Amino acid sequence: MRTPFIAGNWKMYKTVAEAVALVRELRGMLDGLEGCEVAVCPPFTALAAVREVLSGSTIRLGAQNVHWKDEGAFTGEISPLMLRELCEYVIIGHSERRQHFGETDEMVNKKLHAALAYGLKPILCVGENLEQNRAGETEAFVSAQVRAAFAGLTAGQASQITVAYEPIWAIGTGVPATGEGANAIIGGVVRRTLAALYGDEVAQGIRIQYGGSVKPDNIAEFMAQPEIDGALVGGASLKASDFAAIVRNGLAAKAGK
Ligand code: PGA
Repeated sequence: MRTPFIAGNWKMYKTVAEAVALVRELRGMLDGLEGCEVAVCPPFTALAAVREVLSGSTIRLGAQNVHWKDEGAFTGEISPLMLRELCEYVIIGHSERRQHFGETDEMVNKKLHAALAYGLKPILCVGENLEQNRAGETEAFVSAQVRAAFAGLTAGQASQITVAYEPIWAIGTGVPATGEGANAIIGGVVRRTLAALYGDEVAQGIRIQYGGSVKPDNIAEFMAQPEIDGALVGGASLKASDFAAIVRNGLAAKAGK
């Protein structure tokens, strides 16, 4: 049984003071919740302060990016050696990083290797854009992204990774995929590719989230699907009541309620 996992990607939102206030509220609403792992991924600048607020909490902490070297002359970058002091998870290969900051499959693969070497748990993002979707290229594209990302990783390493399937056309648009549509790609493409790489048993153990315009009123549609193990939530994770509602509604749907 895969434990459901819902993570909030705060993107470039929240000052330190705002982040602390948000996570205090979230702690009040979600602390101690059972049956679902919950994580927040604030900007780097807020990690230390949020970590302090979350001390002793069941809410986990993640970063949004990482470099693949442990140190060096890489102005503006943050290494896995630095992150491991602060957080447990790290988002890798988000489409915004691929689109706006030129991250390639090769860089994503290096980041995964580095994060895992330092004991960080990656949330790997994959997903097709609108053009690819319309051209019927989703399956081939997403499968290739998964293969490139996991290149050279052992089954043991692969098992530490959560994959987030996030169709780019659904991110921040208010136009989510359908539960069935996302389930088909997550099961039929992402998990199937992982099974081809590592065998069925390993693939069955890897958590795969859906991401893209997840809201309190549509999370149940995704979580009710057998292949979808959670969500990566952007915009709706910036408001405590919305994120808490997503977690609660998602958990209820997974439990068949
Ligand atoms: P969204 O973002 O929920 O605002 O669509 C999701 C993401 O980018 O991870």
